[in-house]
Amino acid sequence: MIELDLKPGEGKVIDYQGQKVAVYKDEKDRIFAISGNCTYEGCIINWDPVQKIWVCPCCGSRYSLEGKVLKGPATVDLQKVKIKED
Ligand code: FES
Repeated sequence: MIELDLKPGEGKVIDYQGQKVAVYKDEKDRIFAISGNCTYEGCIINWDPVQKIWVCPCCGSRYSLEGKVLKGPATVDLQKVKIKED
């Protein structure tokens, strides 16, 4: 179990069970948790609060909040991660 300390509309990358997990909480308090490592070359992604997407700082891949590739060079979606919130 983990305390996420996230407001609705916020996203951040956390350490969870030894891995980087990108978590986002929507306006209905639903949590979206995906792998925090870019599928292209493994960089840790960042949350873009303006576009509400995940962005890779290394070569510019973009992912939806559910982890779908929106823009390459990555071609593989980010894996969903099951997390238990307090
Ligand atoms: S490692 Fe993510 S786009 Fe290059």
